[in-house]
Amino acid sequence: MKHLGILLSGRGSNFLAIADAIDRGQIEDADISIVISNRAEAAGIAAARARGLSTQVVEARGRKRAEQDAEIIACLQDHGVDLVCLAGYMRLLSPEFVAAYPQAILNIHPSLLPAFPGLDAQAQALQYGVAVTGCTVHFVDEQLDHGVIVLQRAVPVLQGDDEETLSARILEQEHIAYPEAISRVLSGNYTIVDRRYVSRASHNETLIEESK
Ligand code: GRF
Repeated sequence: MKHLGILLSGRGSNFLAIADAIDRGQIEDADISIVISNRAEAAGIAAARARGLSTQVVEARGRKRAEQDAEIIACLQDHGVDLVCLAGYMRLLSPEFVAAYPQAILNIHPSLLPAFPGLDAQAQALQYGVAVTGCTVHFVDEQLDHGVIVLQRAVPVLQGDDEETLSARILEQEHIAYPEAISRVLSGNYTIVDRRYVSRASHNETLIEESK
């Protein structure tokens, strides 16, 4: 049994997609051991409590990032977490955090990285005028939205899209991509060559999945 630790700051829809995927057996032999938020009022933390999961709020309270992260790492370790999943966690991780979980922290970002890292990725895509955007699940390293890519799903930008409609279309694909990426990583059937995630699975895993 592998133990997931979820970090979130807000709504928590990706967390719920992961929890649902575990419940229906799509992510096999795993549980969510702890859900941590840096914001007490995050809807995601209330949803986690409602599902009977263990939760912890670790606020910054003016502390340095490394101090807050040390508390989070201790909490993850207390709960035996094997894989950390950032799900709308709006704080950069300290180098100590990244070092504590080497190649064992995932993040989801609402663009096809390396395009449009950082905040408001959907608005950035609209402003730039791209015809295709999407979402990326990647390992977390010390740079923002930068680590090795596990899986991407593409989404068309349609005429008349605004930030809301485009974000909703991307979010639907996020909820498919994140459970699938977690399942692949937990299987251990991959190696990382340079920056590339290389599947060793017998089935045909692709890095970019076409949205249907
Ligand atoms: C998602 O768009 C995710 O890609 C980004 O933050 C948002 C979180 O949404 N990192 P939710 O809290 O999972 O609903």
